[in-house]
Amino acid sequence: MPSANGTNAPQKPGGWGTIPTSDVARRTFNPIRDILTRPVRPLASPQSSKDLLSLSIGDPTVFGNFKAHPVVAKAVEEAVSSYRFNGYPPSVGLPHVREAIARKYTHPDAPLAANDVVMTSGCSGAVEMAISVLCGSGKNILLPRPGFCLYNTIASSHNVEARLYNLVAEQNWEADIDHMESLIDENTGAILINNPSNPCGSNYTKAHLKAILAVCERNKVPLISDEIYADMVFSGQTFTSTAWLTSTVPILTLSGLAKQWLVPGWRIGWILIHDRANALESVRQGLIALSTLINGPCALVQAAIPKIFAEVPSSYLGDLNCQLESNARILETEINKIPGLSVITPQGAMYIMVKIDLDSFADIENDADFCHKLKWEESVEILPGECFSYPGTVRLVITPPPNILCAATARIASFCQRHSK
Ligand SMILES: Cc1ncc(COP(=O)(O)O)c(C=O)c1O
Repeated sequence: MPSANGTNAPQKPGGWGTIPTSDVARRTFNPIRDILTRPVRPLASPQSSKDLLSLSIGDPTVFGNFKAHPVVAKAVEEAVSSYRFNGYPPSVGLPHVREAIARKYTHPDAPLAANDVVMTSGCSGAVEMAISVLCGSGKNILLPRPGFCLYNTIASSHNVEARLYNLVAEQNWEADIDHMESLIDENTGAILINNPSNPCGSNYTKAHLKAILAVCERNKVPLISDEIYADMVFSGQTFTSTAWLTSTVPILTLSGLAKQWLVPGWRIGWILIHDRANALESVRQGLIALSTLINGPCALVQAAIPKIFAEVPSSYLGDLNCQLESNARILETEINKIPGLSVITPQGAMYIMVKIDLDSFADIENDADFCHKLKWEESVEILPGECFSYPGTVRLVITPPPNILCAATARIASFCQRHSK
């Protein structure tokens, strides 16, 4: 019987009650966002009155010392005043922009054409589309431990089982290949790697990337290669894109403007489809279908990309890398002086991982407790390894200016001294 309001919905007596959320919303949890928005729980000792020094999020624009090149702003200004990009773009991206991206990333051993490029909302959007096109409910995906937590967040939101393969800190965070391979079964939809890495700051050798590709080849599992920190490597290091090293393994390479071009707020990213064994035709169609959910990222920002690629000088990236390396060395030197802490030397990206020797401290339970007490007592915000599925460590970003890094490490040193055994 239809109810009084003419629908078949049961009428609730009284008020609205609480409207339940969907399973997808309930499964979606991002530990970094959770920690950053969680209020600091009062502890016995007094809260610090010092200014907050945040070495927690990988946003290089926070302190104003890293600024996008003037061409970057000019490119968007021109796109706005042209009035040519006010309409809906094609869902996979503007054709001339896909063309410019294909041209920039094409390589003799990994050629790309415009229709191998799919524009996304940030590299996060690329991760989301890549995981959802390759892995459905009931599938599993191999993810790095430690690794960027958004991978797990997206996998669990899609009901995809995350299987974590170990990275070995003592070997420049290389993947434990045997462990990786042991996790594969008939339901494995993809292996995901992140090079250079957040949170590890590692940069893989060609030999190691080839070893990973060999796992993909033997098991016929496609690779998702998150290269948002491509080319962001320190002196003596060379970045190699995974796609340059295989003529068969299907690869979705992910990247965006956020880090190298210093505009994370512009939310622009892309997927490069490397399909030299002609195995990704359905995946390509699937990505096109998924792109129609949102109709692509902002057309104005897309339209800025060809000018940015053509006119930002390569010396600009060189300078960025030099500053990042110099910052990393400041942090490494200062932190290694603190009893109980030791740095795993980074080779690129924007982060430094620090091991905590809990036996050196009288009253620190774990990495989360370390970060919590540090924030309460010294107003220094860093992230616990727990966010990256790697307890016993903390991650610091290396982008703040040297005076902030020195002030933060001085506070960390007095915190550690106060809590030492
Ligand atoms: C490894 C990795 N992948 C993807 C992203 C997401 O990038 P975007 O800000 O472009 O969404 C980040 C951001 O920190 C990252 O560190």
